[in-house]
Amino acid sequence: MKGELGGTLPIPASQLAQSWDNLYLFLFGVCVFFFVLVVAAMVVFIIKYRKQAGRQAAHITHHTGLEVMWTIIPTFLVLVIFVWGWIVYRDMHLNVPADAMEVKVVAQSWSWTFQYEDGRTLTNELVVPQNKPVKLLITSKLNDVLHSLYIPNLRIKKDAVPGMYTTLWFAANVVGVHQIFCAEYCGTSHSNMLAKLIVLDPEQWEIWKWGGKIQMPPVVGVGGMAIPTELSAADTSKNLGTSLAEEGKRLVQVKGCVACHSDDGSKRIGPSYKGIFGHEVELSNGTKVMVDENYIRESILTPQAKIVKGFENLIMPPYAGQFDEKELNAVIDYIKSVK
Ligand code: CUA
Repeated sequence: MKGELGGTLPIPASQLAQSWDNLYLFLFGVCVFFFVLVVAAMVVFIIKYRKQAGRQAAHITHHTGLEVMWTIIPTFLVLVIFVWGWIVYRDMHLNVPADAMEVKVVAQSWSWTFQYEDGRTLTNELVVPQNKPVKLLITSKLNDVLHSLYIPNLRIKKDAVPGMYTTLWFAANVVGVHQIFCAEYCGTSHSNMLAKLIVLDPEQWEIWKWGGKIQMPPVVGVGGMAIPTELSAADTSKNLGTSLAEEGKRLVQVKGCVACHSDDGSKRIGPSYKGIFGHEVELSNGTKVMVDENYIRESILTPQAKIVKGFENLIMPPYAGQFDEKELNAVIDYIKSVK
């Protein structure tokens, strides 16, 4: 299997990667066509209309037909490029399938951590089932720098930013080991900040999911570039047993959150967790805000930033520094699970 343009493009490992390639090939084709057209016309005109003895240059002011043509055709072309580009962008970045499996990604100098809903945590290896939509919730460790998760075979890339969550999704259809890069210059070991995406067929996925030892799938190169084959912990079964949400529930107990926040909808000093995720809440200043990962995170670390209506006398201290990124991910999963 080879990517387009004689293998200069990496292998497209998802349907979206293929549609990205189709758009790219169209753009490339348009560029080649106009390059040849313009250069050929230029050469012909240079020869045909060069200065010659006894020939008088014509004084041409305009040509309405030509001007209309070179306005309408490019306008049509850029509109096609815009609409096509928007469709691919929308499908890649906005239309996240509702049934996507969520994996939390924490970047730090210089490694990647992947947290699964079942509580498993992998370093520098992201294991996913074939053809299953996977949503990544990406952040960078607090007080770290910007990183960027880049999977060339899937044509996707998203910044990992300290202090906020970004999302990305994909459904990989090529079983194998794919390269993940950091695509944001982040210091000395930036070029070593590598990880592997391991796409398993449904059978191997079931084995891995239950902690069994899997057969490592083949390495799928990036363009002409080979991927180092040494792999460590893809057959890991560590941390099975406690889901991320359960870990979050444990954390809100040991950190004392439950003194002021209930999980059954009853009103204590602070708002209850029950059923808030994915819904809007009204704030004390009358505006509304969607309860998502970024809002929960902000409300834990800097509670005074957005105060829910009816809780103006909030006395919650800021919890910045008391949770690390992985713990915050667990608490978010817990709050999400309190329906
Ligand atoms: Cu992280 Cu470059």
